[in-house]
Amino acid sequence: MDHKQRKILITGGAGFIGSHLVRLMVNKYPHYHIYNLDKLTYAGNLENLTDVESLPNYTFIKGDITDTAFITELFASHQFDGVIHLAAESHVDRSIANPTAFVETNVLGTVVLLNAAKNCWKSFDDKLFYHVSTDEVYGSLGETGFFVEDTPYDPRSPYSAAKASSDHFVRAYHHTYGFPMVISNCSNNYGAYQFPEKLIPLFINNIKNEKPLPVYGDGKYTRDWLWVVDHARAIDMVYHNGKHGETYNVGGKNEWKNMDLIHLLCDVADEELGREVGSSRSLITFVKDRPGHDRRYAIDATKLETEIGWKASITFKEGLRDTIKWYLSNEEWLTNVTSGAYKEYYQNQYQS
Ligand code: NAD
Ligand code: TYD
Repeated sequence: MDHKQRKILITGGAGFIGSHLVRLMVNKYPHYHIYNLDKLTYAGNLENLTDVESLPNYTFIKGDITDTAFITELFASHQFDGVIHLAAESHVDRSIANPTAFVETNVLGTVVLLNAAKNCWKSFDDKLFYHVSTDEVYGSLGETGFFVEDTPYDPRSPYSAAKASSDHFVRAYHHTYGFPMVISNCSNNYGAYQFPEKLIPLFINNIKNEKPLPVYGDGKYTRDWLWVVDHARAIDMVYHNGKHGETYNVGGKNEWKNMDLIHLLCDVADEELGREVGSSRSLITFVKDRPGHDRRYAIDATKLETEIGWKASITFKEGLRDTIKWYLSNEEWLTNVTSGAYKEYYQNQYQS
């Protein structure tokens, strides 16, 4: 356990992964002060953090990472010891509809933060900029093989291209200025508080409301799913024990073809809803494929496991049932996040 007092800035802490990370850090390190900087876009929601908002070592700051003057002033006035950067536009479908927003937040916003930290930190001793990234930067796999840390970058969607670009900037600052950084590239996360536009929460919500389940293309696309709390645990461990300048892949060796996962989701949700098991499968509707859809992602997390000692803590079946129960019993959260500014997009996109 690290007993030093530290001020850590977490960006995007009101989002899905960020809120789990904030919760973990605030509770586990009462001697740290955790600052959560978030713009509160459609994906950011302070309801994700009601259980920690009154803790004395937690402060929320509303702000935009692309606002250079604001970010520079924030670093000057707070003198953070570390940054864990998660703020991003994160949904591939939105990146296809509007790539520019992804360049602005994911690329420009990252560079604004890098400059603010580099210029504020008089010495890099005991400082760290942790950039949270995705396995999607590596592109798409065939039937076999895994992404390792030195798999060449081959981003194929505007989302992954913007994340890849931001990763390159973070590494470039290390090589050029000796800037203290680590990067982790994680596979698809699932769990509570994920905005219901991504596959798992969208489908649980639609099953509950007996709406169509829009399966892109042939449904044989493969993703490697990790429980979000295990990702947050990995970030904590890499923040404290990772080697500066290094990259760590994060994943739970848990590949699922979309159709197999969707069948499981339907059946477990049917059980939890007291419906005849299998009945929700009738909601499955094949729709037009996502343009440029990556076929398969799969992570080899050996480096993280052997050098850092991380291991996934629960099985997928436990995590998925827990997640389904969470969405089914948090109706108010679902209603709140799918109303207001997001509602129109949500309806256009997903109503049949
Ligand atoms: P999310 O969309 O749920 O949350 C993103 C957060 O960033 C939101 O709270 C949003 O308000 C905030 N934000 C967006 N633009 C901002 C800006 N300009 N200034 C300040 N805040 C801003 O995303 P997530 O799924 O929690 O992902 C978090 C990070 O992890 C992202 O960098 C993403 O690329 C990465 N990642 C996600 C996954 C996944 O499966 N979700 C997997 C690997 C890596
Ligand atoms: P998603 O949750 O958007 O994550 P990512 O694209 O970052 O992997 O999608 C996961 C998989 O599910 C991906 O292969 C696309 C597919 N998908 C559908 O078939 N239908 C949907 O409505 C969504 C959102 C995704």
